[in-house]
Amino acid sequence: MLKIRKAVLPVAGLGTRVLPATKTIPKEMLPVFDRPAIQYVVDEAREAGIEHIVFVTGRNKSAIEDYFDRAYELEDTLRLKGKTDILETLESEVPEAGSMSFVRQQAPLGLGHAVWCARELIGREPFAVLLPDVIVRAKPGCLAQMVDVYNREGGNVIAVEQVPEDQVSSYGIIDPETHDGRVMKMRGMVEKPSRESAPSNMSITGRYILQPEIFDLLSSQAKGAGGEIQLTDAMDGLMKSQSFHAVEYEGGSFDCGNKAGYLRAFVRFALDHAEEGQNARDVVEQVLKDR
Ligand code: G1P
Repeated sequence: MLKIRKAVLPVAGLGTRVLPATKTIPKEMLPVFDRPAIQYVVDEAREAGIEHIVFVTGRNKSAIEDYFDRAYELEDTLRLKGKTDILETLESEVPEAGSMSFVRQQAPLGLGHAVWCARELIGREPFAVLLPDVIVRAKPGCLAQMVDVYNREGGNVIAVEQVPEDQVSSYGIIDPETHDGRVMKMRGMVEKPSRESAPSNMSITGRYILQPEIFDLLSSQAKGAGGEIQLTDAMDGLMKSQSFHAVEYEGGSFDCGNKAGYLRAFVRFALDHAEEGQNARDVVEQVLKDR
């Protein structure tokens, strides 16, 4: 079985649900406490053994590319001032040279199209997709839990979680067939169904392990929900000829693409912080008292 070495991170979205904060800053660069949101997702990928990340970017997203580069002036200044702790943190987060690629999605044609834009850089091997709007808090990380299932079952694997029934129309929803603990086989999946037509309340979390044949389906695909080329529709097609499993991963997700989800993530990761967690708790309690 081929190892999952590469991951696609689609980061071309405009972040309209968190405007005006995202007018000049990519939404992926918004801080979740002391690190940009994208760093959490890159860490999750690395923990799962990913060696190469392909970012599918767009105009006004160059801050992401700069963030994963060295910052010589800054590092020099920190060195001169003896600020070694933060210098070490910065240096440890710079990826190995050549381990990231950037390709542009030239028009917002949908998630399926964004993934398809990475086809030449992925080649003919299985790969992961992580949607950076979603930060998952899990131990081991969500993608690492999925790689475990992939190592047993092969084929394609997606992460799912239960959502309240009044929210199914915001997600891709699966039609589960059989359960084996947290691992499910499916009859199908549908992107953003109405509450009445949803086959379950199991939503697709934004983490995928896919076989390269998905690119063949994406290349000839018609538009689906919202007039966009949908990854969910291509997966639903691929399911007819390949094995597909869904994992109800252990952990919880934060949708940072909207203001409430972003705030939840910010507070949660502040409280979780190894050195600053207690301070953050005192601050939050004080703010609530001062109301
Ligand atoms: C995308 C996917 C959807 C998935 C969701 C997770 O939708 O198309 O299947 O459930 O991410 O956040 P989007 O949020 O980009 O509309």
